[in-house]
Amino acid sequence: MAKSKNIYVCSECGHSSSKWLGKCPNCGAWNSFVEEVRRNIKKHSGIQPSLSSITPVSITKVNYSENDRIFVNISEFDRVLGGIVPGQAVLVSGEPGIGKSTLLLQVANNLAATTKVLFVNGEESSSQVKSRASRLGMNNENLLLLADNQIENIIAHIEKSKPGVVFVDSVQTIYSSNFDSLPGGITQVREGTNLMVGICKRLGIPLFLVSHITKSGNIAGPKIVEHIVDTVLFLESDNRGFYRILRSLKNRFHQTDEIGFFKMGSAGMQGIADIGNAFVMEHETQISGIAIFPFLEGNRAFPVETQALCTATQFNFPRRTADGIELNRLLMLIAIMEKRLSINLAPYDIYVNITGGLKITDPALDLAVIFAIYSSLKNIPSPTDILAVGEVGLAGEVRLARGIEKRLSEMERLGFKSVVLPFKSKSIKSGKLKLLPIKNIKEGIALL
Ligand code: TYD
Ligand code: MG
Repeated sequence: MAKSKNIYVCSECGHSSSKWLGKCPNCGAWNSFVEEVRRNIKKHSGIQPSLSSITPVSITKVNYSENDRIFVNISEFDRVLGGIVPGQAVLVSGEPGIGKSTLLLQVANNLAATTKVLFVNGEESSSQVKSRASRLGMNNENLLLLADNQIENIIAHIEKSKPGVVFVDSVQTIYSSNFDSLPGGITQVREGTNLMVGICKRLGIPLFLVSHITKSGNIAGPKIVEHIVDTVLFLESDNRGFYRILRSLKNRFHQTDEIGFFKMGSAGMQGIADIGNAFVMEHETQISGIAIFPFLEGNRAFPVETQALCTATQFNFPRRTADGIELNRLLMLIAIMEKRLSINLAPYDIYVNITGGLKITDPALDLAVIFAIYSSLKNIPSPTDILAVGEVGLAGEVRLARGIEKRLSEMERLGFKSVVLPFKSKSIKSGKLKLLPIKNIKEGIALL
């Protein structure tokens, strides 16, 4: 038998090479190359649409209505996905244990209120899914569980029962004996996803696929199939695991800058609609070392509390600790403060922390960090109804922040009274929120 040459494929991104490589030149993953056998990929018969059934149609004749979008009735999920379009293939990826199966079971259960839902599980038995479902108080006749990982079986069930929506948990467990690799291998994951997406597109059935992220490289990651699907959602946790954040990395049918917040609790994944209160603490009395920053994540603005603590150092070198912001950014801001405010911070240990475990890389946070440090240093109580926003340059100048209107309109709604902001933003419309424009940090400190 003529055997074609095997190739090596990166299990993280799908990059291929004729020889094994320790590090992927495309995505930088280490030890991720696996050998792929390039023979015996038989086309699955009976599921390829024949040419005669598909003919070009004028765009004016194509039936489509925005009303065809299905909403799940989980507002944080709907906000990110923007409704489900017929035939849409959605990949939900994230680390093991993050809550993908739980969230999708809740989504499936909600959809089952109006349509027949097929939930294919290759990881858990139906009784395990049932146990989880009954803990979450679900018992819907329209929710059909199928514990199987054979692609041919799954496709036969889809064709036979024509469900309204299909879920497959996970792409790394589905398997076809037509492909010469183990479950979770590149060929299985890629070809299996292709087949599933193909059949669901042909029947106009929305398809949700779960995919795990792996660092080990033993199983193929979501990157391999990202281009096959219409939408990629990513579920991640904040620094400390308090919250689950759902992001949209790709979506052919909706904007990708919305994010959803969840908390994993005894009732499953609970959406946090009231994000305005999630990242600021309630303090009994006014304390020093706090500044509130109007954070814009994706398209969503909410206040975040920045805390700083300056204490006399016990060592030759003062300690600088940053939790939630880059340490290098903190060191730079401290240097700017020393030079532009003519203060000596060398005798102090400085700790900076973002409340709630968020990690913020938005440079507009700079001003709030400086305010918090200064407030702690001088022991000036921080007013918690004043916001600070602006990137700070090396000359101490305060620069424009992205999306300032969006940030401020949301903060006004939440009841904040005033905002210290870059001078260039002084003329934006603000309603009740009082603007305190500053050109540099010296002017800002004078306001404190
Ligand atoms: P799961 O959805 O299985 O994660 P994934 O599919 O992404 O691997 O969720 C796993 C964790 O969630 C598990 O450690 C237990 C926890 N959990 C809860 O805290 N509450 C619940 O109601 C459920 C169902 C799970
Ligand atoms: Mg799971």
